[in-house]
Amino acid sequence: MAKLLLGLDIGIQSIKAVQISSNKDANSLLAAGYIATPTKSFLSMSPSDDQALADTINRLVHDMKVATADVSASLPSSKVITRVIEVPNMTDKELDSSIQWEAEQYIPLPLAKVKIDYVVIDRNEEKNKMKVLLVAAPISTIERYMRIISLSGLNPVALETEILADVRSITQSFPDLPNVLLMTIGASSTEIALVRDHILVFTKSHPIGGTTFTRAIAEELGFELPQAEEYKKNYGLDEDKLEGKIAKTLTPFFKSLFEEIEKTAAYFKEQFPHEEIKTVVACGGGAKLPGLVLHLTRELGIDSQINNPFINLSVDPNILPALTPDAPIYTTAVGLALKELET
Ligand SMILES: Nc1ncnc2c1ncn2[C@@H]1O[C@H](COP(=O)(O)OP(=O)(O)OP(=O)(O)O)[C@@H](O)[C@H]1O
Ligand SMILES: [Mg+2]
Repeated sequence: MAKLLLGLDIGIQSIKAVQISSNKDANSLLAAGYIATPTKSFLSMSPSDDQALADTINRLVHDMKVATADVSASLPSSKVITRVIEVPNMTDKELDSSIQWEAEQYIPLPLAKVKIDYVVIDRNEEKNKMKVLLVAAPISTIERYMRIISLSGLNPVALETEILADVRSITQSFPDLPNVLLMTIGASSTEIALVRDHILVFTKSHPIGGTTFTRAIAEELGFELPQAEEYKKNYGLDEDKLEGKIAKTLTPFFKSLFEEIEKTAAYFKEQFPHEEIKTVVACGGGAKLPGLVLHLTRELGIDSQINNPFINLSVDPNILPALTPDAPIYTTAVGLALKELET
């Protein structure tokens, strides 16, 4: 039987939703849309802001004419601790009973206040060590998201951190690329992650995102924010536009992100010396920055691609052209809608 799931990605700037019907033969996109996140409500904890967020989600799914109400939603990376830990080799059963204890030293919150999830990503018999991806989300955040989704009239069935959904989406888009350096450029931050054999093995958040770029352009060139946003979207890293002034303003931020990418790539080489990362995949709204692929390829000397999460989905040809320009923005939402549910 086909599974019908709405992937819901509540970002600081916009809420993205996609509905996918999956069965063993194909994943079909039924609807996609986005709407601006009400100002302030993202970071707020007040019930009236939760209601405003729920009303906005409700408006979005109403406009999308979504039929089902089962939702797979993301938790913002900023609220979730996602890290790879190393522990002595042990059986799954042993790990299951000791993970709380192992996790304690990495989580700055009382264990009673977090929900822990984990997956073994590598076992090294020689060194008698194993790598485990640990994901810990505050129970209060989980409860808040469940409440907002229920308030919007939908049925929350799964919650996971954004970056895991991104990995699922790029696995769908690039099935032949097992090892990828993933760069998710959102409004508030950029996640740089390593994917090995289609599994997340490292992730780190950097406080540079689309909002940083817009503010810098406004300050540097004396524009109002909306005007700076337009310039960013139209010219980006293209050095031939406006005498390269926009590109010049953005370059230092990318330089700092590239340093992080290089550190991350070096970590990969150290951990997995016999393997290679041949591609950088960018996603999120910031991936739409004009000239990004050229800049990435030139500065990093490695093949760079922008994720199109719709590429391997079956999509009505009448709606595809309208969606394609915004494709990278939907990465997380598509990954969420493709989630396998434990039944
Ligand atoms: N064409 C474009 N060129 C450059 N930047 C763009 C373009 N379109 C959107 N953006 C930027 O993308 C950012 C929004 O991206 P996205 O929707 O992924 O963020 P978000 O999910 O709301 O934020 P976060 O993930 O940080 O919570 C904004 O800063 C916006 O200016
Ligand atoms: Mg986002």
